[in-house]
Amino acid sequence: MIADNNIDDIFDRAAKGRALVRNRQSLTIDYVPDRLPFRDAESTALAQTLSTVFKGARPSNVLLFGKPGTGKTAVVKTVAGRLQKKAADAGIEVTVPIINAKLSNSAYKILFEIAELTGLNREDKKVHFTGLSMGEATDRILQYMQKKKMHVILVIDEIDSLVDRNGDDVLYSFTRANERMMAKGGFISLIGISNSLTFKDKLDPRVRSSLSEEETVFNPYTVEQLRQILSERAKIAFSEGAIADAAINLCAAMAGREHGDARKAIDLLRVAAELAERERAQKVEERHVRAAQDKIEKDTSHEVIRNATTHTKFVILAITKSKNGNTGEVYEVYSALCRRADQEPLTQRRVTQIVAELDQLGIVSTDVVSQGRYGRSQKIRVTVPLQTVKDALRGDSSFAELLAD
Ligand SMILES: Nc1ncnc2c1ncn2[C@@H]1O[C@H](COP(=O)(O)OP(=O)(O)OP(=O)(O)O)[C@@H](O)[C@H]1O
Ligand SMILES: [Mg+2]
Repeated sequence: MIADNNIDDIFDRAAKGRALVRNRQSLTIDYVPDRLPFRDAESTALAQTLSTVFKGARPSNVLLFGKPGTGKTAVVKTVAGRLQKKAADAGIEVTVPIINAKLSNSAYKILFEIAELTGLNREDKKVHFTGLSMGEATDRILQYMQKKKMHVILVIDEIDSLVDRNGDDVLYSFTRANERMMAKGGFISLIGISNSLTFKDKLDPRVRSSLSEEETVFNPYTVEQLRQILSERAKIAFSEGAIADAAINLCAAMAGREHGDARKAIDLLRVAAELAERERAQKVEERHVRAAQDKIEKDTSHEVIRNATTHTKFVILAITKSKNGNTGEVYEVYSALCRRADQEPLTQRRVTQIVAELDQLGIVSTDVVSQGRYGRSQKIRVTVPLQTVKDALRGDSSFAELLAD
């Protein structure tokens, strides 16, 4: 009876309370809005390039660059979607597989996805790429496309992650295959998306020149642009009057602080709404946005530390345990931790690299401090709360004993 009352209570409160969010899906990362303000030029340029498909010709390969959250994936998905629809209306065959090289994190996985999306796996149930070399697997796919005289626009999102892990052999094969395919009336174009501007430097010159027949750079959004993007999104996502303008402005200002990152802005909006709902607030206010910022920061550092390699974790722990935080001392503490855990320490050079990586990720900071007549030295410290470090390391069995003291 008591249990029933409790349950009724929960429902009563939910029914009386206002739902702040009316379209939760529109605040998720996969949601692509119908309209992408401030990306007209980029969308038009891409559409222009791809429009040669309607003349039966191969579009140029395209590379799209830009910092995180600048709308690259959203623009490509939107333009690709419209292209496929128009092509279907016009009775033109075109296949646009969209692969995310970071999610499909091995070259085999990527080839497998391509085989899925182009229909090879449906046709030939026996494709077992695992038994084949990378070159053989690539050839299998290309031969299939060739035989079918396919018109393929292959989108590789986060393409830098493919090249970092597997080099550019696969890309080389795909760009080369074109010549063979065109002779038979098919083609393959590549659209590569990268958030690293130095990505091209990692490519073989032949791959580089053919991959970047056309290039577009996506600039970060300004705070004002973010504000307008958020206002439009808020109209779709929130109930009438459920979010204060000041809260939207603050999300835009915070997301624009480093570079104008629309993903970060929308993440802030979503988490702020969750926090406001949890405390049954009538409205999402600025304080919810501030709390959201703290929560996101904490969650990100936790994830970074939790997923780090064991030696990186040793380095982080060594920094928290070292008194002066200078390079030599950190290395000594680190080596001692390794020995206690029966692990061979890495070289000092490598540890210095790890510290630099952690600095980039915002987990530690390194300041150069003057030591009077002893010259200058580096002071390394962890910028994340100690509790976050401990919580993140606790899941790793190698650290149970080390954390105890
Ligand atoms: N002009 C825009 N209007 C509305 N929403 C946008 C706009 N640009 C980006 N967004 C939204 O911001 C989020 C991030 O955009 P997107 O995923 O396209 O970024 P990206 O450039 O691909 O970033 P990354 O390099 O990190 O992959 C998405 O949820 C997207 O819907
Ligand atoms: Mg993207």
